[in-house]
Amino acid sequence: MGLLDGKVAIITGSGGGIGRQHALAFVKEGAKVVINDVGGDRAGTGTNARAADQVVQEIKARGGQAAANFDSVSTTAGAEGIVNTAVKAFGRLDILVNNAGILRDKTLLKMEDELWDSVIAVHLRGTFACTKAAANVMKEQGTGGRIINTTSVAGLIGNFGQANYGAAKAGIYGFTRVAALELIKYGITVNAIAPLAITRMTEDLPWAKAEGVKEQLDPKHISPIVIYLASDLAKDINGKIIGVQGRMLNAFVMKTTSGVTRETGEWTPQEIAQNIEKIFGE
Ligand code: NAI
Repeated sequence: MGLLDGKVAIITGSGGGIGRQHALAFVKEGAKVVINDVGGDRAGTGTNARAADQVVQEIKARGGQAAANFDSVSTTAGAEGIVNTAVKAFGRLDILVNNAGILRDKTLLKMEDELWDSVIAVHLRGTFACTKAAANVMKEQGTGGRIINTTSVAGLIGNFGQANYGAAKAGIYGFTRVAALELIKYGITVNAIAPLAITRMTEDLPWAKAEGVKEQLDPKHISPIVIYLASDLAKDINGKIIGVQGRMLNAFVMKTTSGVTRETGEWTPQEIAQNIEKIFGE
C-alpha cells in the first residue's frame, strides 16, 4: 500500500533536479504522474522534449505510470495543456506540485526588464496559472485536492543578487496564503516548501563544493515532505510554509510584534524614533 495509491499528480519542471526526485518518489507511493518540463537550460533558454521523456521512460522501466508534457507553465494555455494531459492520460487530477523554475540573477541596478519579467513569468505566473487550471478540475471532481508550491529563502528572507527571483518566490508565499483560504472550501489544501538542494540551480555556488554537501543536500531529501503534504496524512495542514534543507525540516512563520499604541492623537516622527525598538519588539 502506497500513501498515494490511485492518485494522479502533476509535477511541473520534473524533467530534472528536485522535480524529478518528486516524480520518482510519487510513483513509489503509487501515484500516476504527469512529467511536465520545457527542457530549457537553467536560465530558461531553449526547449527540449528529452528531459520529460527521459523521466517518463525511467518511471515506466520501474513499472510505474507516467505521461510527458512539454508545455510552459508560464502561460494560461500551457497550464491548461498540462492539466489536460493528466485528465486525458489518467482520467482525473488529485495533486499539483508547482516546482518549475528558472534563474536569471543580476543585482538590482543591472537588472534588465527581460530578466525580471521572465523569472516572474515562470515562477509566479506559472504557479498561478497551473493552480487555477488544476483547482478548477479538482473542484469539478468534488473530491478535494492537494497543491504544493515551491518558494525559497531568497524571497522569504532575502538574498543578494536575486531581486527578480526573490520577488517571485515571495509572491508565491503570498499566493499560497490566499489560495489556501479560498480553496479549502473545496477540500483543496495549498502549502509551500522552501527547499535547499544541490541541482544545476545551485551547483556552482562556492558552498556547494564543500566536502559532504552534495550528499547532505541531495535533492532526494526534498521529496518526503512533499509526499506528506500530498497525502491524507496532511489533510488538516493548510497554508503552511515548510523549509527543507537536506535532512532538516522547519517552518517559516510570519511574525508580528505586539507593537505600541498611542492613547490619543497622532504619532510624531520623533516619538516613533523614541519607540522604534518597542515597535520592532526588540
Ligand atoms: P532545476 O533547474 O534542476 O529544475 C527546474 C526545472 O524546471 C527544469 O527541469 C526546467 O527545465 C523546468 N522549467 C523551467 N521553466 C519551465 C517552464 N516554463 N515550464 C515548465 N518547466 C520549466 O532546478 P531545481 O533546483 O530542481 O529547482 C526546482 C524548484 O525548486 C524551482 O522552483 C526552484 O526555484 C526551487 N528552489 C530550488 C532551490 C535549490 O536549492 N535547488 C532553492 C530554493 C528553491
